[in-house]
Amino acid sequence: MGIQKKKIAVLVSGGGSNLQSLIDQQENSFFEGEIVLVVSNNKNAYGLIRAQENEIAAIHVSKKDYPTNELYDQKLLELFLEYKIDLIVLAGYLRYVTPLLIEKYPNKIINIHPSLLPSFGGYGFYGLNVHQAVYEKGAKVSGASVHFVDEGKDTGPIILQKAIDLDQNWQPEQIQTEVLKIEHQLLPLAVKYFCADRLVVENHRVIILED
Ligand code: GAR
Repeated sequence: MGIQKKKIAVLVSGGGSNLQSLIDQQENSFFEGEIVLVVSNNKNAYGLIRAQENEIAAIHVSKKDYPTNELYDQKLLELFLEYKIDLIVLAGYLRYVTPLLIEKYPNKIINIHPSLLPSFGGYGFYGLNVHQAVYEKGAKVSGASVHFVDEGKDTGPIILQKAIDLDQNWQPEQIQTEVLKIEHQLLPLAVKYFCADRLVVENHRVIILED
């Protein structure tokens, strides 16, 4: 008997191209999971439309209604319990989660970050800012990281990383485009491993069990 399909919530703040890569790979049965909920802090996030187009519950949780981080995450927790969520994926979600959620979902929240952590991570490093900083430092490689979320900012155990060489003529926008292609490979793969119960965290290191 196979493992039960994991129920997945995806949190987005913007365009949701990473959400789309998950929707596409779910369609391909690349992982044994089902995206049952998409939540955004931004009512105009295109990710919410992508969810609706695919008949996935799409919910905007407004900071106006839940003004502190704790109240906000309490609301998210209620939704996760209601939808019986097993895995939470932060896919371009530009808020930090509070210990409330991290304690309830230890090593069950994963984040995609558009750099090779621990470089270019932490406070202020999100979206194009990351690639701007990479460009300004003249870095010769960049890439993407998928990691479990812990109490720090982009500090949790790394699940997967992939590097790319940077062409010296690339502007930050082009670095972003190239890194996004990597993200769209790595995030579904991390979800696949999670759904197959193949990720074990030991001493802050993630071991990927053989299939
Ligand atoms: C992605 O590049 C993701 O790695 C980044 O935001 C972008 C969202 O794109 N996340 C962070 O910077 C988190 N610190 P998308 O909405 O098209 O998936």
